[in-house]
Amino acid sequence: MCGIIAYHGRRQAAPILVNGLRRLEYRGYDSAGLAIRGAAFDVRKRTGKVAELESSLPAKMPGTIGIAHTRWATHGGVTDENAHPHLGPEQRVAIVHNGIIENASRIRRHLERQGATFRSETDSEVIAHRLEQAVAKGQTPVDAMRTALKGLRGTWGICALFLDHDELVCARNGSPLVLGETEHGLIVTSDPQPLAEHTDRVIILEDGDIAAFGKGGLAIERLEGGQSGTSPITLEESWGEAELGDYPHYMLKEIYEQPDALRHCISGRLNAKTGNARLGGMHLTAKQLRKVPHVRLLGCGTALNAALIGQQLIERLARIPAVAHVSSEFRYQDPVVNPEALHFAVSQSGETMDTIAAIKEIQLKGGDVHGVVNVVGSTIARLCGQGVYMHSGPEQSVASTKAFSNMVAALTIFAMQIGRARQLSANEARVLAKGLQEVPDLIERYLADPGPIDDAVAMVLEAPSLLFLGRGLSANVAKEGALKVMELTYIPCLAYPAGEMKHGPIALLEEGRPVVVVAPDDAVKDKVASAIHECKARGARIILVCTEGDELAQEADVAIEVPRTHPLCSPLLTVLPLQLMAYRTALALDLDVDRPRNLAKSVTVE
Ligand code: G6P
Repeated sequence: MCGIIAYHGRRQAAPILVNGLRRLEYRGYDSAGLAIRGAAFDVRKRTGKVAELESSLPAKMPGTIGIAHTRWATHGGVTDENAHPHLGPEQRVAIVHNGIIENASRIRRHLERQGATFRSETDSEVIAHRLEQAVAKGQTPVDAMRTALKGLRGTWGICALFLDHDELVCARNGSPLVLGETEHGLIVTSDPQPLAEHTDRVIILEDGDIAAFGKGGLAIERLEGGQSGTSPITLEESWGEAELGDYPHYMLKEIYEQPDALRHCISGRLNAKTGNARLGGMHLTAKQLRKVPHVRLLGCGTALNAALIGQQLIERLARIPAVAHVSSEFRYQDPVVNPEALHFAVSQSGETMDTIAAIKEIQLKGGDVHGVVNVVGSTIARLCGQGVYMHSGPEQSVASTKAFSNMVAALTIFAMQIGRARQLSANEARVLAKGLQEVPDLIERYLADPGPIDDAVAMVLEAPSLLFLGRGLSANVAKEGALKVMELTYIPCLAYPAGEMKHGPIALLEEGRPVVVVAPDDAVKDKVASAIHECKARGARIILVCTEGDELAQEADVAIEVPRTHPLCSPLLTVLPLQLMAYRTALALDLDVDRPRNLAKSVTVE
């Protein structure tokens, strides 16, 4: 979603900003822009890619202070005018804003009654107007920011520049801003990624903070007055440049990074000799784990699918009830929260607003939440203050792949940890630990020769819609496959537990319609075989993901075989052909694989 980069220093700002915008592209956006402060603001903004903005820039944009933004439309269409930065009416203030100002229409009407005219349809422009009014009355930039934010409802990460003051002012409420002080100046970004190449010492603003950087250095205060409590941290994990290398797309690169990403996630957390598993960040003793009455998991999109798998594993291995919730629904169900229960917030970015809202609801009701997060220092990681980093490394493609695998692996390790504290025998745990440790090698073997993916793609390309079926753990792999294919190819996809197929989706079946079935060799495989027969009896063609050498392959029109693994690790193998199928179908349709239309990598609005 929207991204911010700002610079105030001794170097030329434009190259730093454009480079930062490129690093923010992975979040998903529809327009981009920048403003450089000189005798006036030089603002360049347009819809489309950062590369298009870059090639439209003049050869020189002199100035050492600037702000830039990638926009993902919420208020107002995808137009050049709606792109950020936005200027005040007299063009003496420039701002970029992430988040949503919920009462912007009312404020806008109020300003219009005073004679203001607006250049865009955005909610953000009201901030520029209010700021400019306040500095025009002689307020300092920081006080003007306070005035501008007074009475605003919603979320913001704002960076503002002023023609009459040599200061960069930032404010945060709900939308992250990270400050990195380098030897040549201050860089502010909406996530740590673009900062990694400049510094690993960062300050993450807290909600309610206002930061100002100018000749006197950096000062961070609270909106209501007084000093902020935030302090510099060192980013533990440097994600470096995350370049494409020899890969044509980030998605393919990330699919192929799954073995190594998994090794990082598993490393040091599993003992195959004893069968013991331990996630350091959980800070829970065996005694505490024994008392847990139930587990709840929260997530959106791919993270939800991983949480659904985690739910089954925890219940299976620890013999306590576990349930995964759609984050966006959670707080609106007025949930009963048991403070003794364990709650997990699963999120690659650690910035998904729906999940953040659900965490706050649990915390408000006295519950503790553990994060299962990829981005170190992200909002969810800090809000939870405890949990697990999944160590996938940077995931740039909007469609999540390696983060999914690591979410599943981290939750498998947790299920073993709580399982061992309760019912799980050492022997069973040893077998599972060994199985999980072998998975990275098995993935490598599969990816070296992924089987007849192109035959499956040929069938998918002809389909008006697709049905995905699976049972047990694989029902959720089917969901993840359907999500992946739908996100990337825009083909309507429906995922159903195989047993439920006859209660509805069977109506869709007709001669030649492809059905994707995920059926590894596990305890429910025979039941899935019945669903395959029911589909075939109605003329459907079967794309089957099954275990290497399984006779079930004969039932399929296209059978994609994955290496045999421990049945509880099967999602880590069976998801691979579905990721590749989505990727190659999107390629065949000539679609933007890494940045599918309308989607954002981290969705920072509710
Ligand atoms: C967006 C992305 C999905 C992602 C979901 C949850 O919808 O497009 O790929 O799975 O957010 O993101 P999170 O960062 O919380 O895992």
